Amino acid sequence: MAQPHILILGAPGAGKGTQSANIAEEFGVEHVTTGDALRANKEMDISDMDTEYDTPAEYMDQGELVPDEVVNAIVDEALSQANGYVLDGYPRNLEQAEELAEMTDLDVVLYLDVSEEELVHRLTGRRLDPETGDIYHVEYNPPEDPEVEGRLEQREDDTEETVTERLRVYRENTEPVVEHYDDEGVLERIDGDQAPEEVWEDVKETIEDSV
Ligand code: AP5
Repeated sequence: MAQPHILILGAPGAGKGTQSANIAEEFGVEHVTTGDALRANKEMDISDMDTEYDTPAEYMDQGELVPDEVVNAIVDEALSQANGYVLDGYPRNLEQAEELAEMTDLDVVLYLDVSEEELVHRLTGRRLDPETGDIYHVEYNPPEDPEVEGRLEQREDDTEETVTERLRVYRENTEPVVEHYDDEGVLERIDGDQAPEEVWEDVKETIEDSV
């Protein structure tokens, strides 16, 4: 049987990365994430694409969207190589949603619904393990191992100022994408305000019912 094609939507900090890691492990699919792909290529020279800035970093550090041309190419390449995937961080505007419809079919579209106040708290408290990529939170999910705790890093765009801008960009560009899938009748709304294990139970059940 072909592996499932899963799209996970949600605001910055909604828990997409956290739940995508569970999905990839449980369903044996690839985690395709534009955020991680762009962070790994932050200094890539994109000046020949007629863009406002010369590297993805200049957009990301301000909380702005990296130009579609750059991101579409990353996703197209990653999906063409994946045997089943959970796609996280894309599409972020209606133009990207149109591109995605040309690239692939989706089996399930999940939307993690989280209140804005909680989003800010989650993002400013997030910490990452640079060695494993594991996601932690200073309050909700601190590491047990003091060695891991000592090497945790904060993402450059998780400052309060940049978080505010990311949420504005999300409301303006990505909420219409959520409405688009809702209008198509394919959106599976998950209560993302619950504890991570409870969110995971709902996510897992929804995928199992859909594929
Ligand atoms: P990206 O990396 O995609 O960031 P994002 O969408 O802003 O999402 P995050 O990774 O911040 O949050 P998340 O939902 O994955 O939450 P997480 O699981 O970590 O994009 C970064 C930038 O790249 C963009 O701003 C843009 O510049 C560029 N970019 C990316 N894609 C693009 C595109 N398609 N087009 C153009 N530009 C693009 O959880 C957050 C925290 O909360 C963690 O600390 C976690 O431990 C905690 N947590 C998670 N779940 C729970 C829970 N249920 N309860 C309590 N705490 C929880």
